[in-house]
Amino acid sequence: MPAKKSKPWEGRFATATAPIVEEFTASIHVDKRLAPYDIAGSLAHCHMLAACGIIPAADGKKIARGLAEIEKEIADGEFVYTQSDEDIHMAIERRLIEKIGPAGGRLHTARSRNDQVALDLRLFVRAEIGSILKSITAFQKALVALARKHQKVVMPGYTHLQHAQPVLFAHHLLAYHEQLERDGERFADCRRRADVLPLGAGALAGTTFPIDPEQVARELRFAKVAANSLDAVSERDFIVEFLAAGAITATHLSRLAEELVLWSSSEFGFVALPDDFATGSSIMPQKKNPDVAELVRGKTGRVYGNLVAMLTIMKALPLSYNRDLQEDKPPLFDTVDTVKGCLAVLTALLPRLTVNADRMQAATAEGYLLATDVADYLVTKGVPFREAHHIVGRAVRRCLAENRPLESLSIREWQELSKHFGADVREWLSQEAALARRAAGGGTAPANVARRLRGL
Ligand code: ARG
Repeated sequence: MPAKKSKPWEGRFATATAPIVEEFTASIHVDKRLAPYDIAGSLAHCHMLAACGIIPAADGKKIARGLAEIEKEIADGEFVYTQSDEDIHMAIERRLIEKIGPAGGRLHTARSRNDQVALDLRLFVRAEIGSILKSITAFQKALVALARKHQKVVMPGYTHLQHAQPVLFAHHLLAYHEQLERDGERFADCRRRADVLPLGAGALAGTTFPIDPEQVARELRFAKVAANSLDAVSERDFIVEFLAAGAITATHLSRLAEELVLWSSSEFGFVALPDDFATGSSIMPQKKNPDVAELVRGKTGRVYGNLVAMLTIMKALPLSYNRDLQEDKPPLFDTVDTVKGCLAVLTALLPRLTVNADRMQAATAEGYLLATDVADYLVTKGVPFREAHHIVGRAVRRCLAENRPLESLSIREWQELSKHFGADVREWLSQEAALARRAAGGGTAPANVARRLRGL
C-alpha cells in the first residue's frame, strides 16, 4: 500500500514516495547543519520580496517573525526534524507554515531549492573560512611562541632524513609558519570566489518575478550577484577549492605531525609530549604513544578523499542542477571539522612540548654537518666548487674510516688533501660560524631568524 502523500510537490503524483526512497534521498540528517544559513538567506529573501511588492508586507512580517522563532527552536534543540522533511529547506518551510499558516507558503516565491541550497553553501563556506583563518592564525602564534622560547636551539637540518647542515630549531618551526601563511591565503582567495549571491537563479533559468537580488546581496553582504543562473545553481567549484585548500593545509599539518612522531621517538628524543597529550598501550606498560600526531597524519587521508569525492561528483554532471550535488555536504562538512580539529589540537599541543635542546645539539655532532662549509671555504681560496666538493668528500671518507669528526683533522692532514687549506679552515669548522654565515635570503642565520621573529 503506497504511503500517504505529504510533499510540497504531491500535486503531480498519484502516490506518495516509497519509504525506502524517502530514506535514500533524505539529507536532513546531514544538512540540518545549514539551518542558520538557511534562515539568514530566507530572511533576506523575504525582506526583498516584501520590499519589491512581490508578497504583502504583512505576510513578510509574519514570515520574518516565524523564521526568528524557528531559529530559536533550532538553537534551543527543540526543533523536530523528520525524515519526511527530506532536507533542511523543506523542514524549515514546513515548520513555518505550521506556525504562521498560508502566509508561510509565500516565502518560496521566486526561489527554488536549487538556488537556496547554493546560497546556504556559499554562506556556510564563507563563514567557515573566517573561522579557519582564525584557527590558522592561532596555530601560527603557537609556532612563533615555541620558536621564540627556543630561539638559540640548534638541530641537524635534514634532507632525505639524513643529517645535512645545522639549522636553528626556530628556523625549522618557522618553515611551517610560511606554509600555513600560504594556506590562509588560499582560503581567503577561495572566499573571494564563494562570495557571490546565487539567489535569483530560481530552479535554473532565473525567475519571472521582479526581484531585486542586489538588495539580498547587500543584506547578506555578498560582493556580487551571480551573472548566470545555470552556473549559479549547478556549480560547486568554490567547494572544490575549499576542499583543495583544506587538503593542502592537512598536508602541512601532517608533515609536522610526522616530525613530532619521529622527534618523540627514543631514536631522536628531540621532544617529549606532555602526558595528557599522549596515550598508553593496553598491553605494554611502558608505552607512551604520540597518537594525537599520528591521527593528524592519518586524518589527512580523509581530507584528501573528500577532495577527490567532490571532484568525482562534479566531473560528468550535465548543466544545471542534479541531485548528485546533494552529496557535496558530507565531504565539505568533514573537511571543515577535520582541518579545524587538527589545527586546534596541534595549537594546544605545541606550547606543552618539552624541547630537549641537548639532544638536538648532540645530534649535530654526527653526520659531518659542516662538510659543505669546508667546501665553501675552499671556494674562497679560489678552488672551483665541484673540485672543493670532491676534496671534502675525500676528507669525510677518511674520517668515516677512522671514526673521527672533521674537526679533528690537523692542518697537515687537511693539506694532504689540498694545498689550499690554511689554518683559517678552523674558523669554518665552527657550528656557530656556519649558522651565522647563512644570512642571505631565507637562511638559518640567527640574525635572520631573529629579524623574522620580530616581524611576526
Ligand atoms: N537537498 C538538496 C541538495 O542538497 C536541495 C536541492 C534539491 N533540489 C531538487 N531539485 N531536488 O542538493
